[in-house]
Amino acid sequence: MEKLFIKGGQRLHGNIQVSGAKNSAVALIPASILSESEIILDNLPEISDVHIYGEILKELGASVTLEGETMRIDSSNLRPQAMPNGKVKYLRASYYLMGAMLGRFGKATIGMPGGCNLGPRPIDQHIKGFEALGAVITHEQGSLHIQAKQLTGTRIYLDVVSVGATINIMLAAARAKGKTIIENAAKEPEIIDVATLLNSMGANIKGAGTDVIRIRGVNKLHGCRHSIIPDRIEAGTYMIAAAATGGDVRVENVIPRHLESLTAKLREMNVEVEEIDDAIRVTGNKDYHSVDIKTLPYPGFPTDLQQPMTALLTLAQGTSIVTDNIYQSRFRHADHLNNMGASVKVEGRSAVIEGRRDLHATKVTATDLRAGAALVIAGLMADGITEISGVYHIDRGYARLEEKLKGLNAQMWRESR
Ligand code: EPU
Repeated sequence: MEKLFIKGGQRLHGNIQVSGAKNSAVALIPASILSESEIILDNLPEISDVHIYGEILKELGASVTLEGETMRIDSSNLRPQAMPNGKVKYLRASYYLMGAMLGRFGKATIGMPGGCNLGPRPIDQHIKGFEALGAVITHEQGSLHIQAKQLTGTRIYLDVVSVGATINIMLAAARAKGKTIIENAAKEPEIIDVATLLNSMGANIKGAGTDVIRIRGVNKLHGCRHSIIPDRIEAGTYMIAAAATGGDVRVENVIPRHLESLTAKLREMNVEVEEIDDAIRVTGNKDYHSVDIKTLPYPGFPTDLQQPMTALLTLAQGTSIVTDNIYQSRFRHADHLNNMGASVKVEGRSAVIEGRRDLHATKVTATDLRAGAALVIAGLMADGITEISGVYHIDRGYARLEEKLKGLNAQMWRESR
């Protein structure tokens, strides 16, 4: 089992490059199977989720090559086989194979998706969308069987603003007959990225990035080459790490607009944040104020940065309240932060953080991806050597984490024990 060791107390400084967005990548890879021609994806992050998705497509019969940050996918020989078990169980975003297979073959059989345990994560809105398009869905032995004689465009109102449901419906509707309108759609930048890829493949999708998306179905999609947008959550994690160590870091290859909610909160805390074209410079100090945070769908404060922010707020003067409106239980990092000397009390969907605590190193466990990011930040802040297990969670979403942080003066290493 691999463990990550961090010798805390170093001030981060220098430049760091952000990779392509995980949550785009895991939608763009399945989106590519809507075409029988080759799709080339550039700027893919080097993370385990990308490797696993490539393996899943190979198991289905596609030809997939991954060289560095470029994946070539030729799914002309892909078959609509059932995917009840195996890798799909471990990858939350395997649910995109439902929309993509349905769009390509009119059918899909797939096990219920796994992923981080953040409380209940229903997919009723995905199902509602597929049914509205004409699919019949049955649930047997842990798998969903989705079948449609003909997918036909319609108007779909999402009861919950959902990234996954919005993308999955776009995938299923791209080759459907007629026009689909998704109302109360999610507006995340990753949704625009998926629409951009699909349009480059010949789809007709308008309005991605707003809450009404219009899709006019086309018969066939062709090949193309697409470069993935930067990962705003990875960028945000490094911005928070810079502030947490009183550092001076230029986070490069970002779209600053995607990070506005974080930038605003950091400034409210008295962190200096400067936007420079496609970079953000964060200059920290040791005199931060407490802030309250409520996570919301984009452009609100992202739930995926709530956990890293909790670590930073242990430094701030006063009491901060972080409320997660997206997930019921995304505070499993709190106990581990408390073991390091923090005071984080979880009350329902909120965490109450008493600041001005000095963190000390101990053995902690990453229970999910962003909990892992929070513990890395805490380790960078703490006195002594922090030992983090559950590193595979972190590897799902952060490309070359140690290499990148070591480039900023962090002292960290990995050991198999
Ligand atoms: N929801 C429903 N019904 C549905 C779908 C969602 O009730 O059919 C609820 C969820 O339970 C949740 C809320 O709606 O309470 C939002 O869920 P959403 O569908 O937007 O989340 P997701 O698509 O499953 C993606 C990211 C998550 C990120 C969320 C919110 C991917 C692969 N995952 O998940 O990323 O937290 O959007 O922004 O894109 C992460 O990167 O650490 C991560 C968990």
